[in-house]
Amino acid sequence: MRNMTIDLCGVKLKNPLIAASGTFGFGREYGEFYDISSWGAIAVKGLTNEPREGNPPHRIAETASGVLNSVGLQNPGIDAFLRDELPRLARAGTAVIANVAGSTAEDYAEAVRKLSGAPVDIVELNISCPNVKRGGAQFGARPESAAEITSAVRKVCDHPLMVKLSPNVSDITEIARAVSGAGADAISLINTVTGMAIDAKTRTPVLANVTGGLSGPAIKPVALRMVWQTSRAVSIPVVGMGGIMTGEDAAEFLIAGANAVMIGTANMIDPFAGPRILRELENFMDENGVPDVGSLVGTLKTG
Ligand code: FUM
Repeated sequence: MRNMTIDLCGVKLKNPLIAASGTFGFGREYGEFYDISSWGAIAVKGLTNEPREGNPPHRIAETASGVLNSVGLQNPGIDAFLRDELPRLARAGTAVIANVAGSTAEDYAEAVRKLSGAPVDIVELNISCPNVKRGGAQFGARPESAAEITSAVRKVCDHPLMVKLSPNVSDITEIARAVSGAGADAISLINTVTGMAIDAKTRTPVLANVTGGLSGPAIKPVALRMVWQTSRAVSIPVVGMGGIMTGEDAAEFLIAGANAVMIGTANMIDPFAGPRILRELENFMDENGVPDVGSLVGTLKTG
């Protein structure tokens, strides 16, 4: 018998795999392909207080080993989410993580207030979106502003609060300690790495926003390093993500110190990535004599 369950800040997940925000919509489209209750949790697309149209096209560019995106937080707004998406998602048989973004502290707080009493399991505070002019990664760039926004949202949040960090900083452990000290119950990382793509023939940027966020296998070594550093710097749970494509990749993040992992870009390449990676992680455990997935966490041997 294998135990795949984990506890993430008081929320019991059936397994440590979470669909990453922004790569799974609200689960509707993937639900046409397979039973999305196989996920440990689903993190929905970043929600803002008001609906947003996002950035102009092109917003996506494929790169040698990943994807650049500059979506610009397109979403229907928190009220439409609560009305049109959450009732279905809350019955889907998996935990729901509401990813929340905003332009100002008041914006974030207002959106999180609206989630009071709603059937979501965890709120993920997005202070790391690199594709908007105001808010997003601006808040996550310095320990002071990261702590300030975490503490403002903590006051109005009646769910466990997880803060999603940006890798585009000089010392991730400073930011992690700051949000932990300001009341975060968990940390998720890494959001995308800022990059750009150029069309040499036209000498123009591929993305209308010029820069975007890189995800996928190209960023996995950076993500592993930051998850390892962060899990040693704070005592709250860490959720790792960045280029996980296989069950063995997921195991590497757990060994680095993540209590759970998020799967993002893999969903865009293989719509069945979630159930496949779960099977592969289970096989990895069986082949390596690991009966409890939690026993992998933080077991990196550094000599
Ligand atoms: O552009 C976007 O919507 C990306 C969001 C994020 O990286 O959090």
